[in-house]
Amino acid sequence: MIQFDYSNALLGATGVSQKQIDGIVPQLESIATDLWERDLAEFHAGNPVSADRSPLDAAFLDLPERLLTEYDTRRNGSELDRIIKTARRIRESVDRVVVLGIGGSYMGARALMDSCAHPWHNELTRAERSGWPRMYFEGNNVDNDCCQSLLQLFSRDSQEVFNQGKWAIVVISKSGGTIETASALRVFLRQLENQFGASALSELVVPVTGTSGKLAELADAIGCLDRFDVPEGVGGRFSILSAVGLLPAAILGLNIVSLLRGAWMMNEHLRSVPRGENVVLNYVAVNQLMESLRGTAIRILSVWSKSLESAGLWYDQLLAESIGKQERGVMPLTVVNTRDLHSRAQQHQEGIRNKFINNLVVDTWRYDSLKIGERSGNEDQLNDLKDTTWPMLMSAAIQGTDQAYNSDGRPTATITLPSANEHAMGQLFQMLMLATVIEGRAMGINPYGQPGVELYKQNMKRILAT
Ligand code: PA5
Repeated sequence: MIQFDYSNALLGATGVSQKQIDGIVPQLESIATDLWERDLAEFHAGNPVSADRSPLDAAFLDLPERLLTEYDTRRNGSELDRIIKTARRIRESVDRVVVLGIGGSYMGARALMDSCAHPWHNELTRAERSGWPRMYFEGNNVDNDCCQSLLQLFSRDSQEVFNQGKWAIVVISKSGGTIETASALRVFLRQLENQFGASALSELVVPVTGTSGKLAELADAIGCLDRFDVPEGVGGRFSILSAVGLLPAAILGLNIVSLLRGAWMMNEHLRSVPRGENVVLNYVAVNQLMESLRGTAIRILSVWSKSLESAGLWYDQLLAESIGKQERGVMPLTVVNTRDLHSRAQQHQEGIRNKFINNLVVDTWRYDSLKIGERSGNEDQLNDLKDTTWPMLMSAAIQGTDQAYNSDGRPTATITLPSANEHAMGQLFQMLMLATVIEGRAMGINPYGQPGVELYKQNMKRILAT
């Protein structure tokens, strides 16, 4: 189970106190109860929602339970079964998949690939990947050279590539009208059709979208063999545990059942574990208090594993779009250590005292520990550390950094993942989504919707039209 340790935030005048935490947790607990008893109940009943609570995208809350229960009881034809079967079908037909999508329709899939797949997945042979395709992401920008070069890569009809170089598109867009995704789909579709003919499209294009919209219409026109819905009442940045994240994850061969079980476990944890031991409530309490009492306008997620950078960027979006409203809300920032100790730590140690750092630490690494080892010449003078392993180096860096910040009255807290695997990541994603919604509600901000990103879109359309 994920742990949240805030002992290094109990720093008196510059941190928070246990008494302050105990003071705020009951309010957070009652907000958490309301999420199920009011928001979710209202959503499932289809009751109209008052203007100040609209939109109400509460359906992510019990999505893991609903998907797993349907899978366990019905299996054939359930959403999870369809996702798993589609992933297997794709594996049998192609060795490369491009996932098109942006924002909430991109970041979850990327976070799952980077945290749970082999770190060099795309570099492995097909046999080493057990046949699961290589995965690439586009439509998450309008960078001409990146997109053009990926198209060139896919156009190579290499002998080495499985099934005459066939590749597939998974296109994800809830609205079905996002310009970046739609433009990328247009060019990748054109190339797919040129390479393999129009008749291949129905098999090689898998859309994940709303039940209506331009992408849904295009999917009808193509006659896609498989397509998935973004569930009603699930907002983009809360959709990682729907087909939006699950389909790409399944295509990578990840265990999506375990991912959802982890998320379900976090729901149970929030609902049943008492105050004081509840990681969601403690996380919100400490982070909220640091902002309101100590003015930490910047919230840093300091990830101590390269594989977690995309999960951090997913959280950046979740927090920024959910509570960055009404001229309020902390600024999220992900740093990857030890890399960023060599770029940002100076400022964290001696800069403005407006940051609160949550470490994200992996307890058990997936692969055997590397040892520094001995070298006969000892030119680098590392022989004294010959028995030191890389996890020991990392642990020393984490402790040393915390001690440095804490000794200067700069508080930190630590989320510990048992391992970077599907079950733990499911817990983490659900924990952070729950925490974000509770935090928004506690601040009097509707955590759903992102009205502020509409203006740039309107401007862009106007500029393009002229
Ligand atoms: O969180 C959100 O809702 C956004 O980031 C969307 O996911 C993003 O704008 C992409 O939208 P769509 O899925 O409609 O293409």
